[in-house]
Amino acid sequence: MEFYEVIRDRKSVRRYLPDKVPEEALLRVLEAARLAPSWCNKQCWSYIVVDDPGLISSIVAGGAKAFNAPMYIVLCADPSLSGSIGGKEYYLVDAAISMEHLVLAATAEGLGTCWLGAMFNEESVKKALSIPDGLRVVAITPLGYEAKGIGGFIGNNIVRAISSGRSRKPLNSMAYRNGHGRPLNK
Ligand SMILES: Cc1cc2nc3c(=O)[nH]c(=O)nc-3n(C[C@H](O)[C@H](O)[C@H](O)COP(=O)(O)O)c2cc1C
Repeated sequence: MEFYEVIRDRKSVRRYLPDKVPEEALLRVLEAARLAPSWCNKQCWSYIVVDDPGLISSIVAGGAKAFNAPMYIVLCADPSLSGSIGGKEYYLVDAAISMEHLVLAATAEGLGTCWLGAMFNEESVKKALSIPDGLRVVAITPLGYEAKGIGGFIGNNIVRAISSGRSRKPLNSMAYRNGHGRPLNK
């Protein structure tokens, strides 16, 4: 898939087929995440692939049925391995860049993802997956093939608020030239 096609095709997928993700595709997607840039090249992230149905039920709000995904990827980060400038904590930036590599690679493989920030309890996930104390769970994504036409999972008000719509601001209200708020167009 051509790069800009991947960018356009990516979307949050909230309903999956039960089909398994081929191991080679999973490894390519994780390899894309591995190659991400990071603060002082510290690579503060780690990933846990969760395909045990019992574990899936205990890490995602709504349990295994929430998205019906055959697999989840849990993104962890070690804040002590990254840095901070002016109160900006770069472990979140590092982890997010790596996760976006993963997400775009998944799209190129024909796989769906959905960044989950609110639909898990960090302490429960850490306990279920034996994640060391110092690490943070930054995000979780389901990984699998989209169940097209079935409609997404909208379980509660929080999810409804978070996942409200796919529209984007116009370019001229987010990109400027020579000063914030100044027109981009010459
Ligand atoms: C930091 C972050 C947290 C998110 N948390 C959730 C979530 O908990 N549940 C969910 O269904 N979608 C979540 N999303 C997905 C967004 O709702 C989605 O990206 C946005 O509505 C745009 O839609 P699109 O991804 O299909 O383009 C999250 C996205 C980001 C970047």
